[in-house]
Amino acid sequence: MFKKVNSCGLMGINAFHVETEMEISKGLPDFTIIGLGDAAVRESRDRVKSAMRSSGLRFPEAKVTVNLAPADVKKSGSLTDLSIIAALLAITGEITADLSDSVFIGEVSLGGDIKSVSGVLPMTILSKREGYKNIYVSDENAFEASVVDGINIYGVKTVRDMLDHFKGIAPIKPHEKYVNSSENIGNGLDFEDVKGHSVVKKALEFAAAGGHNLLMLGPPGSGKSMLAKRMPTILPPLTFDESIDITGVYSVAGLIDRAHPLITSRPFRSPHHNISLPALTGGGSVPKPGEISLAHRGVLFLDELPEFNRSTLEALRQPLEDHEITVSRTGGKFTYPCTIMLVAAMNPCPCGYFGSTKKQCSCTDTKKKQYISKISGPLLDRFDIQVEVAEVDYEKLASGRKEEPSEAIRERVCRAREIQNERYKNTSISCNAEITDNLIDEICVMTPEAKEQFGSAFEALGLSGRAFSRVLKVARTIADTENSKLIEKKHINRAVNFRTLDRKYWSN
Ligand SMILES: Nc1ncnc2c1ncn2[C@@H]1O[C@H](COP(=O)(O)OP(=O)(O)OP(=O)(O)O)[C@@H](O)[C@H]1O
Ligand SMILES: [Mg+2]
Repeated sequence: MFKKVNSCGLMGINAFHVETEMEISKGLPDFTIIGLGDAAVRESRDRVKSAMRSSGLRFPEAKVTVNLAPADVKKSGSLTDLSIIAALLAITGEITADLSDSVFIGEVSLGGDIKSVSGVLPMTILSKREGYKNIYVSDENAFEASVVDGINIYGVKTVRDMLDHFKGIAPIKPHEKYVNSSENIGNGLDFEDVKGHSVVKKALEFAAAGGHNLLMLGPPGSGKSMLAKRMPTILPPLTFDESIDITGVYSVAGLIDRAHPLITSRPFRSPHHNISLPALTGGGSVPKPGEISLAHRGVLFLDELPEFNRSTLEALRQPLEDHEITVSRTGGKFTYPCTIMLVAAMNPCPCGYFGSTKKQCSCTDTKKKQYISKISGPLLDRFDIQVEVAEVDYEKLASGRKEEPSEAIRERVCRAREIQNERYKNTSISCNAEITDNLIDEICVMTPEAKEQFGSAFEALGLSGRAFSRVLKVARTIADTENSKLIEKKHINRAVNFRTLDRKYWSN
């Protein structure tokens, strides 16, 4: 006798369809699972057998073979347990319903409970896209799947409950669809509390408007961390597709909040500087997305940048260019998305006061050099916008006046993003920072004066080829904030001014 039940597998952030095929034949009682499963899949046999017994169900006294197809793709974890149980119940005649339009995902415990697994969201999205009508998951995972429209989600607590559902004894109602709640941004922080810093605030506004990487450099207590923490309050809202995209990463990481299964505001991740390489980039023995992927479509804020391990920082170079990171493990290659805005803050030297107008720097030249060289040229080159954050005057700090609120800045950011959304509507690009090399000439068109100006600045500052395109992209954003079709000389000037820190601090 033969039965086939649908399930899913997960490779990194990507779900794939798995067919759980089961054959029962006469012979000595045996239970084999084949199809490139890892240890957790092999242990499935014991879990499934015990779960059946604990649920008062008979395990067939026969030769039972399970094949997890496609047999050439590695499967990891316990997420096919539930499909094996469903196949057993179907093959033994306990379930008579047609299961061909249903997908089963979940781990079973020895006691017959159905336990949650990571990555239910991408698997639900895949199942819906492939035309399945129903998906059966653990009761604890149902809220996570409920953000996907167009597929019935059944949250099941135990094997017994699932059987009673199919027998019509106690039908389970499909889980209610999740209705998008309002955004919660900034946790009460606002730019109106940051005194002065008009140039830096403008730099942050441009960074948010075009999705550009930003580096702030300045003495202690000048407000760098304060400014960065307010970044989420001016970021543009997410589209539904972007929300689903981010939530998929969090689903795979097992970090979905039950009360808010859909992530509706851009992530802001600020890992401590002693973070390990796998925690930043992803990986580990059971691969999970790292901080860089948890910041997908949001901000990765690295405060006190030179304090990070140098090799950890260097590992950011490739994903910053490619917008994805691939981690190789024995179980295969795992690719996680990471379209991020990198925001970083640092002091100019170990004592912090080099270049300060208020205090004398006490560092030797060697110490200064050692400190600053922790940020390599290639990494520095990836910061599209580099700004100095100087100390604020007493008068400004003591004025008691509120500055421009975040909402007003965010409105301008959103207007600039609308222009970009229109420009990139049939492409995979979402903002100016993502303009690909083949589109630069077409999208970043300069006036003749702007071209001339950029030419002389390029030579004078000794800019790299990467800096050339990055300056152009920032200039494109600045032009967008002024609703200007062409990049003018003033836009180029402004963008070039954001690339001058290396001459002051990184050159001898
Ligand atoms: N421009 C400002 N407006 C209002 N308050 C400020 C400003 N700059 C600094 N402060 C006050 O100083 C505190 C310290 O600022 P912050 O932590 O942002 O400094 P920092 O530049 O990150 O310093 P460090 O280099 O030591 O990390 C803030 O929490 C705030 O109370
Ligand atoms: Mg700080």
